[in-house]
Amino acid sequence: MINFSQLAQKYQTPLYIYDFNKITEQYESLKVAFKARKAILAYAVKSNSNLSVVKHLAKLGAGADCVSIGEVRRAFMAGIPKYKIIFSGVGKQDDEIKEALESDILFINLESEAELGRVEMIAKDLGIKARISVRVNPNIDPKTHPYISTGLHGNKFGVDLNMAKRMYLKAKNSENLDPVGIHFHIGSQLTELEPIREAAVIVADLVRTLQAVDIELKFFDVGGGLGVTYKDEVTIDPKEYAQAILGTLNGLDMTIMCEPGRFITANAGHFLTRVMYEKQNDEKRFVIVDGGMNDLLRPALYSAYHRIEALDNDGETSLADIVGPVCESGDFFAKDTQLPSFKHNDLIVVHSAGAYGFGMGSNYNTRGRSAEVAIEDGKDRLIRRRETFEDLIALEEEFIK
Ligand code: LLP
Repeated sequence: MINFSQLAQKYQTPLYIYDFNKITEQYESLKVAFKARKAILAYAVKSNSNLSVVKHLAKLGAGADCVSIGEVRRAFMAGIPKYKIIFSGVGKQDDEIKEALESDILFINLESEAELGRVEMIAKDLGIKARISVRVNPNIDPKTHPYISTGLHGNKFGVDLNMAKRMYLKAKNSENLDPVGIHFHIGSQLTELEPIREAAVIVADLVRTLQAVDIELKFFDVGGGLGVTYKDEVTIDPKEYAQAILGTLNGLDMTIMCEPGRFITANAGHFLTRVMYEKQNDEKRFVIVDGGMNDLLRPALYSAYHRIEALDNDGETSLADIVGPVCESGDFFAKDTQLPSFKHNDLIVVHSAGAYGFGMGSNYNTRGRSAEVAIEDGKDRLIRRRETFEDLIALEEEFIK
């Protein structure tokens, strides 16, 4: 049990709190599910890139799925070995590609033919052979929120099957490219197994086709996307997930990679905020808290649901919106929710905030980002201090002098 009021007193609010034991539990449950095969769980750093979180996962043996050179650097700093780090993303810059190649990470995941050309050129300049994979877009509807669906041809991610084949042939014939992996990721917060299975079948078939022309891939990367329960979603069982994927790989001797983000961190994280005021605009009741959309953007951006817990109060309830101090009508955590009446400084917990919470935060309205705290074996520790006004102006100040 997390003692939220003690943490609020010690670290102030708004505050992100991560249960590291829960992170371990989630990681291990997936690791066990894949134990029948060689598997690398490359944690999707974007879901929560706090160095202490990544370090915790490094100690558990995780790899890292990165989408910028900044994330690659974080993975290294956190102690993830280079042979477990991969680098994806549709828009990698030349200097990012160069640094990734120089750091000798496991592979670069290519998302277009044009990018293949750049990577080849940079590898040539460096006099090396770049290990690559191709992100295949299998044109499967993952049945999730359109903003987090990635496996349809209407999405910007990956390349279609024909293009993938062409890229592998080009890579095979290149002095400076070494095709070692294949990758797909059809979307995030997936709660249905069938689309994942269908995508895996398509991609495994492509692996077999490539074998026929002497292209032997070693890594079968199924991306991330495992959904979690925010409200009452029925989620995919990790064992069934692993079975479904393994089932498509008959006769293929490949290391499985997967890139879980949300599955590892979402429900390990809580966002703690204090009630400042209540107000009534005619019929409509608002509870105004000290956290805002700059801290946790998901409700504003995706109309995402996050369970709200009123800590100090369980009296009679009425419908209200929980809103933050940011100057935007989209600045809310919950709408038309039954809530008790609050006093100044009462605490509210916004649950399932460990993934895509802090990381999608901003300094909008010149608001410093919240502090982050880890709880492990009943002990709490600060893992990122609260941003101050001085932090926010540090990069501008010299220019007005
Ligand atoms: N691998 C790739 C290639 C990805 O694009 C993503 C997520 C992941 C792995 C990790 O997916 P996960 O296991 O966390 O579902 N901000 C959105 C989610 C964006 C996901 C982007 N890609 C949200 O708050 O729901």
